[in-house]
Amino acid sequence: MSAYKPADLIETDIDAYLLQHQHKSLLRFITCGSVDDGKSTLIGRLLYDSKMIFEDQLAALEADSKKVGTQGGAIDFALLVDGLAAEREQGITIDVAYRFFATDHRKFIVADTPGHEQYTRNMVTGASTADAAVVLIDARKGVLTQTRRHSYLVNLLGIRNIVLAVNKMDLVGWDQATFDAIVADYSAFADRIGLANFTAIPMSALDGQNITEPSTAAPWYDGPPLMRWLETVSVEDDLQSRAFRMPVQWVNRPNLDFRGFSGLIAAGTVKPGDRVKVLPSGRESTVARIVVLPGDLDQAVAGQSVTITLADEVDVSRGDVLVGADDPCPVANQFETTLVWMDDEAMLPGRPYLMKIGAQTVTASITEPKYRVQVNTLEHIAAKRLELNEIGVCNISLDRAIPFEAYKTNRDLGGFILIDRLSNRTVGAGMLHFALRRADNIHWQATDIGKDVRAAQKGQKGRVVWFTGLSGAGKSTIANLVEKRLHALGRHTYLLDGDNVRHGLNKDLGFTEEDRVENIRRVAEVSKLMVDAGLIVLTAFISPFRAERRMAREMLEDGEFVEVYVETPLAVAEARDVKGLYRKARAGQLKNFTGIDSPYEAPENAELTVDTTTLSPVEAAETIVAWLERG
Ligand code: ADX
Repeated sequence: MSAYKPADLIETDIDAYLLQHQHKSLLRFITCGSVDDGKSTLIGRLLYDSKMIFEDQLAALEADSKKVGTQGGAIDFALLVDGLAAEREQGITIDVAYRFFATDHRKFIVADTPGHEQYTRNMVTGASTADAAVVLIDARKGVLTQTRRHSYLVNLLGIRNIVLAVNKMDLVGWDQATFDAIVADYSAFADRIGLANFTAIPMSALDGQNITEPSTAAPWYDGPPLMRWLETVSVEDDLQSRAFRMPVQWVNRPNLDFRGFSGLIAAGTVKPGDRVKVLPSGRESTVARIVVLPGDLDQAVAGQSVTITLADEVDVSRGDVLVGADDPCPVANQFETTLVWMDDEAMLPGRPYLMKIGAQTVTASITEPKYRVQVNTLEHIAAKRLELNEIGVCNISLDRAIPFEAYKTNRDLGGFILIDRLSNRTVGAGMLHFALRRADNIHWQATDIGKDVRAAQKGQKGRVVWFTGLSGAGKSTIANLVEKRLHALGRHTYLLDGDNVRHGLNKDLGFTEEDRVENIRRVAEVSKLMVDAGLIVLTAFISPFRAERRMAREMLEDGEFVEVYVETPLAVAEARDVKGLYRKARAGQLKNFTGIDSPYEAPENAELTVDTTTLSPVEAAETIVAWLERG
């Protein structure tokens, strides 16, 4: 333990404080357990023993402990941590409290996440950057369902250094047999989930036994106290001895004479003169310089942030990965993954999400889960989608090929997050297992007759006129009139109508959110083929979700997708009720009816909006045809 008080030094000489810490290694760890297990007391104790509690906090803590503490006037460390936790747990954001402390040997960042199942996403967030995990157990209760869940997640996220902290040993009289039984129980579970190693420590966070100092109460235990373990556990895994990998965070071009590629080295070692490959393009060059702030380096290793210049003028963009030329990583666009869903809105198979992996952002869509894992029992369960905090194995397909590595080999190149494209929320986190080989064996076949030639023969430009609106808004009626008009003008058209397509191609689909997503995905693909054939395609589907309409738009080229919003207030559509479906939906005989118990997201920037309360169907059709014939 250091003799100085860090709090003093931070106040009086921040530079001296930072210097002292600069050369120490950093350990990031996560604590798993609930407040009942003594987690807050343990963290409070670690902060206190490393003198990271500021004087004023300490004074307040002593006062609070006397007033509301549970320890009969002695310091209640849990108060220190729980004050923050209570605030935190009210929030709906994915919060993890990170706390910093340091000893003479190491710096630490501890991620403290709540233990309950509804906070799985928080735990995953905290664990995703951790090198070690402290799994807390109450000696009186032994291995619980939540211990198993936490351990499963920690293992899933690739944390290899695990302490089984058997706390509250004072309450079982420091009984060795109790400790041994818990360890045996946990070992059996660890074997089942493939968790190779762990260190079990009997302790009492409250009494400070086996936290910083070895316990006097358990002479039968000859292992390290927790702090010693944290100070000495090896975090330098073999990353440096692996093949070189560096995702390019940005292309650094301050002037015409300098072009460097900056990023954090994810694995391996690099020296000037090394042959490197740029992925996914596969172009090769030689490392010219490794530049960091004080000057050039002769060598850089995993964990360092550097700027690399190359001997040749090769094309490198943000998101590319520089790899050792003799040992490149694979490149693929389809994968099997494990996915943890983190959003209140369920994951929808087929919907495009943004995926951030390494320094790249790509568009990804996910298949129906192969199965979901019931984390408490480890059972595999059939699932159509993933809800908040659920974990499943899914295939994922990207809009382009990326360099990658399996998550278990390299977290930086195999771990990813998913972002909703409309709300910008982080909705999921995942781990790549392996590339699907079918992606390797399917190639795009070039054809000699192209889209333009086909359209030119028809004397037109192929495009999709995408009608969207509530049921009964008038989409089919107006689309039909538009087609008649275009036909009379000599245009080559095809009308894809919701009800009709649901009699054939999509007769296997109903009206759940995932079925509607799949409905629109298929219709968008068919429309794209028809545009390729040179046709003017009219589609009349409710297509209630912005995300899928946007997906359809992005499948086509600029100007080929014309979104027409057939705007009719719900009350008006319901009053018309041509098919009697609103009545059934109101009577509860029809579930998931758009506008009633399933949402409709109106377009934000449709090319055209026709208001059916002021325009007759014929007028609406004429407006649309006039617009189409103009451009
Ligand atoms: S979409 O939402 O997937 O785009 P689509 O346009 O194919 O819907 O089909 C909508 C038509 O199916 C409606 O016009 C209506 O005739 C019929 N239908 C039957 N059940 C429902 C429902 N639950 N919600 C909406 N439309 C339904």
